Amino acid sequence: MQTPHGPDRGFWQQRFERQQTPWDRGSAGPQIARWISDGTLAPGLRIAVPGCGSGHDALAMAQAGCVVTAIDYADAAVALTRQRLAAAGATAEVVPADVLAWQPALPLDAVYEQTCWCALHPDHWQAYSQRLHHWLRPGGRLLMLAMQCLRPGAAEGRIEGPPYHMDIQMLRALLPAPQWSWPAPPYERVPHPAGWTELALVLTKTA
Ligand SMILES: C[S@@+](CC[C@H](N)C(=O)[O-])C[C@H]1O[C@@H](n2cnc3c(N)ncnc32)[C@H](O)[C@@H]1O
Repeated sequence: MQTPHGPDRGFWQQRFERQQTPWDRGSAGPQIARWISDGTLAPGLRIAVPGCGSGHDALAMAQAGCVVTAIDYADAAVALTRQRLAAAGATAEVVPADVLAWQPALPLDAVYEQTCWCALHPDHWQAYSQRLHHWLRPGGRLLMLAMQCLRPGAAEGRIEGPPYHMDIQMLRALLPAPQWSWPAPPYERVPHPAGWTELALVLTKTA
């Protein structure tokens, strides 16, 4: 259900059960192939995929040789991801957990953040941005696809989602220098099947 602080676990579980998953591309996000070809995603890279959904992205990274930990708190998402990996003969850790509580045993090399942040109500963004920072080792990288879905209601102060619009200025405030090194814009705009776009950028944890 939708609570005053956004969707809960049951909301997402129901979406999967009713097959109402318009965010699901049916294949890995296109930015993954670009990041594989330029070496950003490389064999041996220890990477988390928070809010992994049905697991297309986790599978693509596992097949590229990354050491993947996929996290989701909807049982259906966990089951779909495990099935997808097994069907492909690929290996990844799939963890049923809340991304606002989960912590890796060892700091990670990278996080692939795509449509998990925008699935969280803004009330959770400060906590989530702090978790992302804690998950990574110094020098670790946040591979981000920042959902751009500004709605007219924002002009009246309405907070509408999911997905919630990921304003670039808000991201700078929650992932600030000098804790993070930001690339210079413009950022690549990746079309999303739901009609929005995502900004692709790689941030480095500096401190
Ligand atoms: C919009 S879907 C995106 C799924 C996947 N990244 C994709 O693009 O296909 C958001 C996913 O995040 C998961 N999710 C939302 N909030 C979560 C939380 N607090 N902890 C763990 N998973 C969460 C949902 O269960 C859902 O699978």
